[in-house]
Amino acid sequence: MCLPANYKNPNCIFATMQLLDGKVAAAAIKEKLQHAVNERLLAGKKTPHLAAILVGNNGASETYVASKVKNCAEVGFKSSLIRLPLEVTEAELLAEIALLNQNTAIDGILVQLPLPKHIDDSKIIAAIVPAKDVDGFHAVSVGRMVQGLDSFIPATPYGIMLLLEYFGVATTGKHAVVIGRSNIVGRPMSILLSSHHPQGNCTVTLCHSKTPNLESFTQQADIVVAALGKPGFLTHSMVKPGAVVIDVGITRVTDATKKSGFSIKGDVDFDGVAPKCSWITPVPGGVGLMTIGALLMNTLKAAEGLDSAR
Ligand code: GUN
Repeated sequence: MCLPANYKNPNCIFATMQLLDGKVAAAAIKEKLQHAVNERLLAGKKTPHLAAILVGNNGASETYVASKVKNCAEVGFKSSLIRLPLEVTEAELLAEIALLNQNTAIDGILVQLPLPKHIDDSKIIAAIVPAKDVDGFHAVSVGRMVQGLDSFIPATPYGIMLLLEYFGVATTGKHAVVIGRSNIVGRPMSILLSSHHPQGNCTVTLCHSKTPNLESFTQQADIVVAALGKPGFLTHSMVKPGAVVIDVGITRVTDATKKSGFSIKGDVDFDGVAPKCSWITPVPGGVGLMTIGALLMNTLKAAEGLDSAR
């Protein structure tokens, strides 16, 4: 679904439905980052440098990592893509991370998830030195985020906060319902929305696969973040008029009309839900673009040093 930012549905029951356009907000972030890189170079500092490790050749992971590398170049960052075969051992991957940890030319390290089953994600995440943890998945980063300290924030929830901030969406005192409790999106999102942040200060309910009568929660929500990975899950009857709806879903669905053979579907039934909303993110063109912008922000932060590292 591709709607202009000033889209007005004639059947819209909430008169001012507006699109949270990730293209516009991400472009603004990238402009800011380009400026920051230029300032750093003028001050005699180095170009921020991201290292991304990709294990195997999962199609979606290939696409995401390629996009991260491309966006680094667009803002003037360096990037290094380290490709490892699907059969790489956990020990070999840990050795690669140890090298990157020690390499002073590298500011940020990310290991694209998911990893093959024979590798323990949590061991890999724990091996990245916290000062280079631009994904914000390390226990030190998570702990600092929970305590409201300067930290790397996982890119998807951070991107959503930046999107809300860019469009000036008011969140204080609102009831936010987050669907999904992953460490990558749902759980950090619930923490950020309840934090002392201009786009936080919400009362948050975290729903998940074991939540009975989930629609009874979403129907009361001023803000819904759908991050469960089920295409079209959130439908018209589950949303309160005037709600802000954030769609994190990016599932590949078979589509014979597309050259690639698939299209990307969000967790929200956009056509049914949008007319009821005050604000809604499109898919594609919403949260996905902000995720990349947020990762780049974290990479700049890594180059500049966290408060804790200074
Ligand atoms: N897989 C899905 N989302 C992410 C992300 O934000 N970072 C990494 N490293 N892998 C992912």
